[in-house]
Amino acid sequence: MAATRILAADEPSLAVAAALLRAGELVAFPTETVYGLGGDALNPHAVARIFAAKGRPAEDPLIIHLAAAADLDLVTRDPPPALAMLADHFWPGPLTLVLPQQPGRAACRKRGRETVAVRVPGLPLARRLIAAAGTPIAAPSANRFGHTSPTSAAHVLADLDGRIAAVIDGGATNVGLESTVLDLTSTPPTLLRPGGVSLEQLQALLGEVALGAKVAPGGGQIAPGLLERHYAPEHPLRLVIGPVDAARAWLRGEAEQLLAAGLRVGLLIPDEDAAFFADRTYDLELLGPAAQPELVAQRLYAALRALDARRPDRILARDIGIAGIARAVADRLRRAAAGDVTELG
Ligand code: TXA
Ligand code: MG
Repeated sequence: MAATRILAADEPSLAVAAALLRAGELVAFPTETVYGLGGDALNPHAVARIFAAKGRPAEDPLIIHLAAAADLDLVTRDPPPALAMLADHFWPGPLTLVLPQQPGRAACRKRGRETVAVRVPGLPLARRLIAAAGTPIAAPSANRFGHTSPTSAAHVLADLDGRIAAVIDGGATNVGLESTVLDLTSTPPTLLRPGGVSLEQLQALLGEVALGAKVAPGGGQIAPGLLERHYAPEHPLRLVIGPVDAARAWLRGEAEQLLAAGLRVGLLIPDEDAAFFADRTYDLELLGPAAQPELVAQRLYAALRALDARRPDRILARDIGIAGIARAVADRLRRAAAGDVTELG
């Protein structure tokens, strides 16, 4: 395929992108969470192209993006009672809802699956693009399967240049990690993936929320057997979880040992930890203050990519708790660690 076109975030470019989407081509576009790899959700050829471009297994279903909640009946049916309230509160925004699917409409479903994941993205540019295309847009994160999700157009091109028709460059994304996925077909609703809308916000509205098999009360433990190398850096990441002082001491000890063995160490840590490592030349990526988890979430993927690109033998990270969006940060760090997690008492 020809090189991927880079489009500006302006109206003429949106018209070009919308025409490409209507023609069954793939266009990556920014949302408030991460960049999506968009294709016409009602066109089976476009949907097949998404799976091929990403190298994604066919059984992993896609999220469908709508310009407005009013378009829900294009792809869903039998709205559960909580839907209207959740849509009012959180749409447009980083909440994906799993709903009963409209038979025969959404092309990007797993065979036999009767649900569909839907969201109305918070970034106005994304909604204008979907409205201009005039069709629901299926869009997984715009990375090769298993890689870290893209938060800039450059990240998209690093993974998908030449594999998609175009990318709209809307700058860095605001939330920085993926939407929350909530299954509304179960009672109580089940949190399948923590993300931009927090568990606390959902509980405040819904009362009880169940945690899915991959989401532990402690912030995103992936059940044994479901361990997937997902959101993963190319160089191995080791994660420590626990009280701040103990976690820092552990990081320090681990880093010293690796350095002594002649290995290159990359540290992915909150700002306030930097002083703790100032006396030695460690390779640091600072995530922002731990007390501002929104900033940490925003920076997480870019920092992980930057560190990874410098080819450390080992990346060391510590978590920043599970309050609010920190739960989603902990979840992504656990996935990046692919099981190499140390929990201190
Ligand atoms: O923030 C986001 O959600 C981004 C932006 C582009 O919108 N998209 C995204 O898509 O992260 P993706 O495909 O990387 O992740 C979709 C997640 C997957 O874990 C998938 O298994 C789950 O949603 N999912 C999709 N359809 C589902 C369904 N019907 N039931 C349960 N889980 C579903
Ligand atoms: Mg993804």
